[in-house]
Amino acid sequence: SGFLQAAPHARAHTGHEDGAIRAALAGGGHGVHRQIKDVGLHLPPQGAFCAAARHADLGDLHTGGADDLHRVPQREGDALHYGAAQRPQIPLIAESEEYAAGVGVYIRGAFATQIGQKDQTAAAGLLRNGKLVAIPTETVYGLGANGLDENAVLRIFEAKGRPQDNPLILHISEPKELESICHDIPAQAWLLAEHFWPGPLTMVLPVRDLVPKRTTAGLDTVAVRCPKTAATRELIRLAGVPIAAPSANRSGKPSTTTAAHVLHDMDGRIEAILDGGPCEVGVESTIVDLTGERPRLLRPGGVTPEELRALLGELDIDRAVLGQISNDAVVRAPGMKYKHYAPSAEVYIISGSSEAAARYIRRRFGPGDAVLCFAEELPLYDGCNPTAYGSENDVRTLSAGLFAALRDLDRPDIRTIYARCPEGGGVAYAVGNRLKKAAAFRVVDAEHEA
Ligand code: TXA
Ligand code: MG
Repeated sequence: SGFLQAAPHARAHTGHEDGAIRAALAGGGHGVHRQIKDVGLHLPPQGAFCAAARHADLGDLHTGGADDLHRVPQREGDALHYGAAQRPQIPLIAESEEYAAGVGVYIRGAFATQIGQKDQTAAAGLLRNGKLVAIPTETVYGLGANGLDENAVLRIFEAKGRPQDNPLILHISEPKELESICHDIPAQAWLLAEHFWPGPLTMVLPVRDLVPKRTTAGLDTVAVRCPKTAATRELIRLAGVPIAAPSANRSGKPSTTTAAHVLHDMDGRIEAILDGGPCEVGVESTIVDLTGERPRLLRPGGVTPEELRALLGELDIDRAVLGQISNDAVVRAPGMKYKHYAPSAEVYIISGSSEAAARYIRRRFGPGDAVLCFAEELPLYDGCNPTAYGSENDVRTLSAGLFAALRDLDRPDIRTIYARCPEGGGVAYAVGNRLKKAAAFRVVDAEHEA
């Protein structure tokens, strides 16, 4: 089924006589057109993905131009400007003549639904051609490449500066595509897929041979996710291959939750960004390993431990979730051992009541210090220039705002960040996990420390 017979670089039948796909991409309303030749011939010969790719048939790549209204910048002075003067380096396919002058699919759209068919088709062409395209998902932005093409996957590691022993998540457009990349899929996996896909859940399952070792870092398992963002699922469907995508940040930095963040970290390193607006969940997906005796939570996220337990009956929590793991430790999710989500400053979590924490922090606050708190607590930090990342009463605002706030505070003049962290289960468990990781699990109890 699926792309099992796919030779990663096999030339597939595309329905085009000359085997070449020609595309004219509009230069963001500037009337610049360039031809892309030979885009995307790495299609599998049959199966679900292939049918999808044939359906797209890239016919509408011939159009482009004046109707690209949603590519016009939305805000004056926006870093995302798609104008000739401010055009970012992003569609930096500069080595290839076709893309000279920086023409590409850097697409500005406030909502995923505003990403047009033509944009997705063009981005899919880039992906099939071994290029890197940043993709919006409901969790964080991903740095996407053809997950079956080891050269494309290698470029992901290079662009991120990511150690190659840290495997990638494969993104699929529909749950049933799981069968194409995994084998011995337990009933639990289908149960979880039924409830949470498309959505912020990643499952670790036994991998089929067609997935290159580079994608899985040599493991015999692979992490798979079907993201919720409709435009991204459509893009994967058009690409006709599973898309390997880690979070689209430079290794060690907080994940990116807007296209502007991606541009900041990846400009000059990748070919395009599909801009779907800010991410709704804001922290990376929940990862569950289903290859052991009991299901194991490797990373908390938007799908909560309570929701998983309700369906699975049991769930172990990996020790990497609970505390700092030493660098040489053997862990189930290799990524969990690296320092993550961290700004350059030292982060300290100050627990306890709002008042006790404010007393503790204000007593110590000085030059080079910053406060990261709940919106409700802002009045307690008069004169400390506090940053709120969301409302304590609505934990989803905290998850949506955390990484953007950590990025704002990633400045050379800030040396210490005192942070307030939500307690408890649900989505707060994921927010707490990310913040504790940023703090290297340094938590001070303000109620008991003067
Ligand atoms: O929400 C997300 O999951 C985002 C979006 C883009 O989908 N992606 C993401 O990818 O967070 P990344 O690469 O930043 O994190 C993937 C994590 C890493 O900690 C990695 O070690 C772990 O998943 N992982 C990947 N494959 C694995 C496997 N076979 N077994 C265990 N852990 C795995
Ligand atoms: Mg990451």
